[in-house]
Parts: sequence; structure tokens; C-alpha cells
Amino acid sequence: MSKHIYIGSDHGGFELKEALKENLSEIDWEDVGCFENSRCDYPNIADALVKKMQDQKNALGILICGTGIGISIRANRYKEIRAALVYDTETARLAKAHNHANVLCLGGRTTDIKTAIECVKTWLKTDYDGGRHDARIFLLDS
Ligand code: RB5
Repeated sequence: MSKHIYIGSDHGGFELKEALKENLSEIDWEDVGCFENSRCDYPNIADALVKKMQDQKNALGILICGTGIGISIRANRYKEIRAALVYDTETARLAKAHNHANVLCLGGRTTDIKTAIECVKTWLKTDYDGGRHDARIFLLDS
């Protein structure tokens, strides 16, 4: 799993972001911030991460705020960004298999570290199913 992955969080997701980097050290992380646990606004972090991903085929990112809600809303404003807020391994699997999610969103205050690590591992190892989902992904990205 030596994959390059962008990661970002606001203050509500800072602790979980740092824990993911520490526990999944085999991943080549590129952290877009925040870099300390003081107030930072999640729309700015989502913007920074998407900017890095744009114009790259197959880029992947992880975004974390307190609940994962605000940061996923912002990320999904961008074309061809499919940001999925997940909370267990089944939603993490389906986010990739059915929704071809290229951004995984997590809640730093709502998901414990162990579960979050399993979500990331599951999302990374799952392949997009394609087939009947292609038409829907096309519609999402149009
Ligand atoms: C910040 O306090 C909090 O509102 C934010 O992290 C997030 O949960 C928003 O969706």
C-alpha cells in the first residue's frame, strides 16, 4: 500500500488526521493542513486538497472535520470530485465499489481511530465495480 494520498483536516479532524498518518505509515501522505490544532475553516482545507487533486488522473484524498459533513459538502462542489462520508467498513467499501469515491471523508469527533483506520484500508483495497454504476458516475460528474 505505498500509495500517494492527499490528506487534510480542520481542527475538529486534526487529531484523527495525525493518527492516520502515524498508524498507516506505509502510505505516502501529502498533508495539505491544518498543521496545528487551532481553529481553521474546513472549506479552505477542502479547497486546498481538491486543488492538488485536480488535473491528475486517479488522485485520491482524505478529508476530516468534526463530523465529516461540512468538509464533504465543500469537496463535492467540484466537478469529478466524489467525496463520500463514511462511518464503517461497509460504507467505506461501497463508497469505492459503487460510487467510485476519490475522496474519503471522516468525522474526527464521530469516528474512533481504529474504525477510521479500517475504513481507510477498506476503501484503498476495494476496486470500483464499474458496470451498471458507470452511467451514474457519468451523471454525477456531468
Ligand atoms: C468545527 O467546529 C466543526 O463545525 C467542523 O469540524 C465540522 O464538524 C463541520 O461539519
